[in-house]
Amino acid sequence: MSRTRVREAARILHRRAGFRPRLHLVLGSGLGGVAKCMEDPVEVPFEELPGFPAASVEGHAGSFLMGRIAGVPVLLQAGRFHYYEGVGTGVVAAPVRVGRALGARTLVLTNAVGGIRRDLVPGSLMLIDDHVNLMFRAPLAGPVADGETRFPDMSRPYDPALMAAAESVALRAGIRLPRGTYGAVAGPNFETPAEVRALRAAGADAVGMSTVPEVVVARAGGQRVLAFSLVTNRAAGLGDGIVDHEGVMAYGEVAGRTLGVLLEALIPALEGIGAK
Ligand code: HPA
Repeated sequence: MSRTRVREAARILHRRAGFRPRLHLVLGSGLGGVAKCMEDPVEVPFEELPGFPAASVEGHAGSFLMGRIAGVPVLLQAGRFHYYEGVGTGVVAAPVRVGRALGARTLVLTNAVGGIRRDLVPGSLMLIDDHVNLMFRAPLAGPVADGETRFPDMSRPYDPALMAAAESVALRAGIRLPRGTYGAVAGPNFETPAEVRALRAAGADAVGMSTVPEVVVARAGGQRVLAFSLVTNRAAGLGDGIVDHEGVMAYGEVAGRTLGVLLEALIPALEGIGAK
């Protein structure tokens, strides 16, 4: 998506909301409930923004909501674009670039995953502390976008101070939040058992079909990133049954409520952590 369209989308959102968010929060599958903790949201569906297709996946609402969560001005994104929808990197990354153009310095992402590590059972949460990009696509290929660097460092893709804040809020709330490495695949089919073994050997603790393109683009633009996974199933070959979208949605709802509690307490805490 062109820089003109990104800027125009940011202008529309700013005009509609009347404020600039400091934080951009992306909600994945079945996590729409988190939006309920936002005060007086202004909603702008994706299709009202230039160059944005309407989100197509069941369970992905496809809109921006701007408002305050615990007093903090937030750009909340309900739904996202995935490579498996047939869209290019420009579209997958566009919401991140719009959030940055609006002024968001911090990006918080959520997603659904299949658990590979033994403790990552359905209904649990994982704090992403690293990732392996097995999507075989380079989100930054092409001309360098506004405010981004050509060769961004990826030594610390997930911000250590934000992770520590998330862990301390989780501890206080009695929520288990183990760290883990996210393995990103293009989907949309779920993996074969042999692919899950390969992912484990590659260092992945969980597998999902999103997030990494957004993280890479955010880091290229100097944003701080924090990301949470909701474990909706055991990855293929590790559980008792098959992996299906209905099961993913059902567990997404359960773990989504816990994540909602965590995010509501965390957002004001993130405010106090200065940008690097
Ligand atoms: N694999 C890939 N993506 C997923 C899964 C999975 O098992 N569960 C939820 N998203």
